[in-house]
Amino acid sequence: MRKRAEAFDRWIRTSFVEMNTELENLYFAQRDRARVIGVGENLKHQLRDEGRTHIVGLLEEGNTGDGFASAFGVLGNVGLYLGAMRRHELTNPAREERSPFPEASSLAMHVGACIGMVPRFATAHLTTHNMALGGVRKSFTSLPDEFLFIDENTRGILAFQRAADALMRIVPLGISSPVNDVLFDAAKRALGDAIRSNDRLFTELDVERFFFCVRPYYKPYRIGRQEYRGANAGDFSGINEIDLLLGLCRANDPYYAQLLVDKMLFMLPQDQARLKECMSCRSLLDELLAVADSYSSADWFQQNVRSFLEVCALFAHTATQHHDMLVKRFIEQPAGKLVEADLQGITASGPPLPVLLRSLETLRDLRVAADRSDLATRRADLARLRGLLQT
Ligand code: HEM
Repeated sequence: MRKRAEAFDRWIRTSFVEMNTELENLYFAQRDRARVIGVGENLKHQLRDEGRTHIVGLLEEGNTGDGFASAFGVLGNVGLYLGAMRRHELTNPAREERSPFPEASSLAMHVGACIGMVPRFATAHLTTHNMALGGVRKSFTSLPDEFLFIDENTRGILAFQRAADALMRIVPLGISSPVNDVLFDAAKRALGDAIRSNDRLFTELDVERFFFCVRPYYKPYRIGRQEYRGANAGDFSGINEIDLLLGLCRANDPYYAQLLVDKMLFMLPQDQARLKECMSCRSLLDELLAVADSYSSADWFQQNVRSFLEVCALFAHTATQHHDMLVKRFIEQPAGKLVEADLQGITASGPPLPVLLRSLETLRDLRVAADRSDLATRRADLARLRGLLQT
């Protein structure tokens, strides 16, 4: 990493975190914890100006970094800076037509275009590609709840990636291979890890701290003229690889295809490539259904169907946890107590909360293969396979 990029990174890991933490403690100590405008103004301006000095230096250098890792690091750091500016209401896309941070926007657009990602910080910056130095990960604040959130998101993502990787390895072996047992077992263990990570978030994360001091850094903001939705823990390909490989969601379904297109550039280039590969595979469910008439009593069929259905059940459990536990407890319930003005930009993607909740509910129902007359879930197909199992 070049000297200026290094200095910016050091600032992001130290003064930036200290100032954000101090501001969070000021907001949180108020009776109205949602109040941000007019609080800690000097500190906010110091944060804005110090960051701008680093960014102007990097922009003058005109260098997008030495290779992918360095460029990705610069993009993340500019993004964290802009995410904080949005959180402290020094920018708000609802009242502006373009970002009031032209230098940061230019740098982000330059680097983002170079590496093929959106010009904002992405989930990977704070999770799977968040380089710890001396044990400390990058973050907005040093609040224990933010670290808990970042760490458990990372553990969850790593678990889904392991499950996706195992399922993907079944494709070249073919659904009739008896050695799929080790891959289904690996997927089951990984999904068990994701379930435990969700449980830890549910029981250990403080609702108020998360809602008022962590979540606001994930709001949408503008880069140049364009508004970009916030990052969310779902911006990695593994979860969609599982959807597609299990056959619970289909890449040619208009709702799901839109979701994939929308999230593509929020993912790392290597994730984009994996997802594209997966989109052209036939799902394991369709593979099993295609041979069901001819082979349903074969040992390999019985074994692989049983394991496949167990994987589906565990994946369904993670989807239910996300929607019925995490989203409900940490977003829906606290949002219910806010006044209308504070509800703006409550989510990472920007649509009004009820619209977002409906969309997340659709995803949950596809993943659990729910009984819904208005949605093409795979409920009947899973039931058919279950019916072929010999006890
Ligand atoms: C406190 C914990 C969490 C909360 C409150 C939460 C909430 C949300 C919300 C509200 C969204 C919609 C995006 C938006 O805001 O616009 C979302 C999306 C998503 N989240 Fe989480 N989330 C949490 C943790 C996790 C974890 C640990 C994972 C797994 C690694 C995860 C996976 C996803 C995925 C995959 C999406 C994209 C939609 C989908 O495909 O289901 N989330 N989350």
